[in-house]
Amino acid sequence: MRNLLSMEHLTNEEVYQILKLASDFENGEQSKLSKSYNVANLFFEPSTRTKTSFEMAERKIGCTVIPFDAGFSSALKGETMYDTVKTLEMIGLDAVIVRAKEDEYYNELLEGINVSVINAGDGAGQHPSQSLLDLYTIHKEFGKFEGLNVTIVGDISHSRVAKSNATALKRLGVNVRFLCPPEWAGEFEAHHSWDELIEDSDVIMLLRIQHERHHVNKSFSKESYHEQYGLTFEREKRMKPNAIIMHPAPVNRDVEIVSELVECKRSRIFDQVRNGVFVRMAILETILKGRE
Ligand code: CP
Repeated sequence: MRNLLSMEHLTNEEVYQILKLASDFENGEQSKLSKSYNVANLFFEPSTRTKTSFEMAERKIGCTVIPFDAGFSSALKGETMYDTVKTLEMIGLDAVIVRAKEDEYYNELLEGINVSVINAGDGAGQHPSQSLLDLYTIHKEFGKFEGLNVTIVGDISHSRVAKSNATALKRLGVNVRFLCPPEWAGEFEAHHSWDELIEDSDVIMLLRIQHERHHVNKSFSKESYHEQYGLTFEREKRMKPNAIIMHPAPVNRDVEIVSELVECKRSRIFDQVRNGVFVRMAILETILKGRE
């Protein structure tokens, strides 16, 4: 595996290999890379978790992290993504981790670029490292994927997490259902009421409402969204005893979920963040090992 761009490109076998390696790292295994690789994190959109988690993972497997401040780079003078990444390659980078607001920005890096590219989120396209850490979290909980009911709730059409997870989970044998207002379903067939879904879901995966990607529906009301689609105390009580709550975060507290439920017993929201470091170590190790 030279790059990680989309969950569409990963086979189930590659997914299981990454999950296994992540588990090994969680259990204390050390990196087997033969040298310190030079990597940089190019984040052209805001991030707390993904950027910091990648940087932690890079350091844990012995990479040299070259600082790159997207908000103070020559991209602001109009330099293209290709020229930015090619420049870093000539400086001596081995891999770049990129988040950008354009869907499939990575297409312009497919030819002529020799550094490895890890997609840390492209617009409303894909978020493969988040998807892999979500898969890791689900597999750690249930020890399987086959036959699970996963309900993805919220701003589906703007969510790269929903798209990456829908692709991967379905291929792994999960029954994936969507719940959202009709105008946010995008390419997916969605339910519009919790009643059909709340009692048999093994995983309720909530999504952040991405106001920054909304160009219509300015009349959106947080209160009415919460009432219709939010995870309330009453709905949480109707969940199966061993069902879990996930959210890629950041969370809009009291919109997607009642604030007090964010750290309730069945919530794995902060465990997802912790798992993300091991999963990103596994992604980096797999890609960098492939360069040896
Ligand atoms: N889940 C996620 O991608 O969070 P950040 O935007 O903080 O990286």
